[in-house]
Amino acid sequence: MPRKESNDVEKLISLLEYMANGINQNERRTEDVYSLGLLQPLMQGYPYLGFTGFSMRPYCINHIINDIIINGRQCIIEFGAGISTILISRLIKKNGLNTTVISVDHEDAWAKLINEQLKNEQLCEVATVISIPLRPCDLALDGSLWYAVDLLNLALKDRQFDMAIIDGPPAWEPSKERARYPALPYLIDRLQSRSSVYLDDVNRKGEQDIIERWKKEFGLAFNIAGSSLAWCTLGQAFHTAPIRSHY
Ligand SMILES: C[S@@+](CC[C@H](N)C(=O)[O-])C[C@H]1O[C@@H](n2cnc3c(N)ncnc32)[C@H](O)[C@@H]1O
Repeated sequence: MPRKESNDVEKLISLLEYMANGINQNERRTEDVYSLGLLQPLMQGYPYLGFTGFSMRPYCINHIINDIIINGRQCIIEFGAGISTILISRLIKKNGLNTTVISVDHEDAWAKLINEQLKNEQLCEVATVISIPLRPCDLALDGSLWYAVDLLNLALKDRQFDMAIIDGPPAWEPSKERARYPALPYLIDRLQSRSSVYLDDVNRKGEQDIIERWKKEFGLAFNIAGSSLAWCTLGQAFHTAPIRSHY
């Protein structure tokens, strides 16, 4: 293709991407306002939560919480602690569920802060954050660091899980965009026959690449909810997306 035409095509593609992103952003805001409404029973009367740009979107938390209730998930592992950990723990206690959460965080000070909040709300019996530093990892792509596998094995012992929430380690820097890849290769033998797997931030290129790899390598059928949460279920499961139009 002549150079000028090829430049024009590139400009058009980037304009279309920009417009699509704007539409997605507006849609995401609407989903989040709706989901914040649904989450009010886990927010009103509790200590205030500091939602930030690092926090999981309310829509995504809502999707996961629905899965816990509707599909009876009982053994949850999360990578990347925060608001998600606290809201899930509040749900478990409020609904009297027989469910526990282990959340793994690479940042010792952050793990302490979230554990402190869990303690203040008497949620330690349902959830705990374990602090595991990032290290070079045989499962990683691009030489990215991942949670120290020997320490993780020691902490998790022979535990099996029926829900995995992957929202860490941080992967927003281009050089770390596939940093979350090792989670599924690490967890695959620890997943129960009926379980669910979530990867947050799949609006980003790195996470999209991870999902494509996981689909090929593990034969799992991932779906996208709310344009930023990838999910798949193993075994029988009911639908749990907060807004039906995404099916
Ligand atoms: C995407 S965040 C995880 C967010 C968490 N699942 C939630 O819903 O709040 C990934 C990592 O960022 C760090 N992090 C979370 N919130 C932060 C904040 N407000 N400031 C700095 N680091 C933060 C934590 O170490 C966390 O493991």
